[in-house]
Amino acid sequence: MIPHLHPAATALAHAQHVVVITGAGISAESGIRTFRDTMEGLWKDFDPATLATPEAFERDPATVTRWYDWRRLGCLTAEPNPGHIALARLERNLAATDRHFTLLTQNVDRLHQKAGSHNVIELHGSIIQWRCTASSRTTTPPPEPFTTFPPPSPFVPSAILRPDVVWFGESLPESALDAADIAMRSCDLFCSIGTSSVVYPAAGFAELARRRGASILEINPNPTPLSPLATWSLRGKAGDLLPALVDHALA
Ligand code: OAD
Repeated sequence: MIPHLHPAATALAHAQHVVVITGAGISAESGIRTFRDTMEGLWKDFDPATLATPEAFERDPATVTRWYDWRRLGCLTAEPNPGHIALARLERNLAATDRHFTLLTQNVDRLHQKAGSHNVIELHGSIIQWRCTASSRTTTPPPEPFTTFPPPSPFVPSAILRPDVVWFGESLPESALDAADIAMRSCDLFCSIGTSSVVYPAAGFAELARRRGASILEINPNPTPLSPLATWSLRGKAGDLLPALVDHALA
């Protein structure tokens, strides 16, 4: 057991409602690139304005859907890592002891669900699911590359599909925001894992939790704007620290 984990593990052992928010960092050890890390962030090679906005899709739907299809296939072949698995285990344990667990994720890769997490709120949608631009109906395309870009909608002739993700300039799904709001009302331990904490409204949840008296635990190899607010800021990889923390809390 890593000694500096002790107080956070004790808080986890006694919490009644744990709310976790995850970002790209938790999937880094599954081989999915983060957005902003200096050496390997996705936005280093691609300009978000040309790929992750409604305007970009309007202007060049073929390029945008090709990029998202490439990322979709990467997510489909990725496997959850020990960080995802530890969170699923924590959820099972809390449920078995009549306590609550809510996982808010900014990730679109579905790796939390693949690891066995159930109460997952996808704040930025999912790349595994695609949406008809005319009817808004969603579909889960087969795990092979699309053959036409943009892919045609299976629902409405002459309409096309877009990834069911939130782009810059778009609102988060109302159902996800409502579910997050409800979770935040009773949260007594808020954990921020693998996120740079710079994209709102997700970044604001920790501040809200703090104002409401919850303890804040951050896991990240690097400091973030949240670090000064956190009760405990653990520097390291989620895949190393989370299993150790959960093992200790559940021991
Ligand atoms: P970022 O790429 O901004 O941040 C990833 C964070 O993970 C950084 O703070 C890293 O230090 C940390 N990190 C890297 N490896 C890690 C590891 N093994 N364990 C734990 N932490 C690690 O990704 P997000 O914060 O998720 O939104 O970005 C938020 C949103 O910005 C994304 O959902 C996406 C993006 O634009 C949309 O596309 C709407």
